[in-house]
Amino acid sequence: MYAFARSALFALEPETAHDVTLRTLAHSAAIARRVYGRKVAHVPVDLMGLQLPNPIGLAAGLDKDGRCIDGLAALGFGFVEVGTVTPEPQAGNARPRLFRLPAQRALLNRMGFNNDGVAALVERAKRRRGTTALGINIGKNATTPAERAVDDYLKALDGVYAIADYITINISSPNTKGLRDMQSRDSLDGLLAAVREARDHRAEADGRYVPLAVKIAPDLDAAQLDAIAERLLYHRIDGVIATNTTIARDGVDLRWTNEAGGLSGVPLRARSTAMIAALHERLGSAIPIIGVGGIQSARDARDKLEAGATALQCYTGLIYQGPRLIADCARAAALVQAGQRARTLKNVVTRDRARVSAGR
Ligand code: FNR
Repeated sequence: MYAFARSALFALEPETAHDVTLRTLAHSAAIARRVYGRKVAHVPVDLMGLQLPNPIGLAAGLDKDGRCIDGLAALGFGFVEVGTVTPEPQAGNARPRLFRLPAQRALLNRMGFNNDGVAALVERAKRRRGTTALGINIGKNATTPAERAVDDYLKALDGVYAIADYITINISSPNTKGLRDMQSRDSLDGLLAAVREARDHRAEADGRYVPLAVKIAPDLDAAQLDAIAERLLYHRIDGVIATNTTIARDGVDLRWTNEAGGLSGVPLRARSTAMIAALHERLGSAIPIIGVGGIQSARDARDKLEAGATALQCYTGLIYQGPRLIADCARAAALVQAGQRARTLKNVVTRDRARVSAGR
């Protein structure tokens, strides 16, 4: 069914196809649930204290303004992340700013946080009917100077706090000048200290704790990753999302090397999985990792879960594979969970046998 819809959508300019899809889905949540949502396996997982029906989520950027939360949730996602939203509305970069690379099952985008601003997103999110966990991804306005960037994150955090199940601090989009510099040790330290303090105040005042996740780029070296992991642990951040799109152009046609933007989909897959493994090595089980980047099959989902991700998100894979991808990934998650349980059981039995034979 999706193959047919896809050929019609791919005949349209990418951003138009995107708008048409979201508008249609917003009016057909009941059908989406029947055709896709009901086929997604129940694979319960605890993510940052949230109890999710499955660990497969929608990545940020597809529904920046929260126009279609119920429709997207009806496809069977265990959680939905909207945004990136900035304190004030902004138009984003000039079009064209979204490109398909069908041979690589990839997208290149330089949207530049086009969004209606925090107030509009909050109004829409308040009207949603469903209860699927809602992540809200926040960023800074393009016109805000770097030295006032933290103020933007604080404004956005304050604005979305009451309606978010978790909040993502996005410091990794390649399409807002200087944003990724916030991943450097000193900038990150100031930002994390400020958002943690603001969150702790709100948690106390509202009597409701909203976990914070940080979304990082795939284009970091080992030393940068060391510094980030160390700061995430120090500030007791609740989760980390790895990764955003890449500025690398591995495995794509030469014509894309000079085109500005972030690359997603299959060319990002291995880089993102390597990042998850490297983060897992540094964080252990102290901070859960949400793995994202190039997931387009059950096998891709399994690889990221085995690399150490607790949950996953997809974007580009949905465009190329359709919503069936969610059920495929949930099945992979069920198998990985069963394997982990079997290994734990085996370890317990082996330990008990060793104790018995040692006479303890
Ligand atoms: C994105 N992504 C993104 N991420 C983010 O944190 N805020 C955003 O606003 C956006 N916007 C956005 C627009 C478009 C058109 C794309 C394709 C992607 C990044 C996205 O959430 C994800 O991290 C990457 O796309 C990698 O995952 P996939 O697409 O390979 O599954």
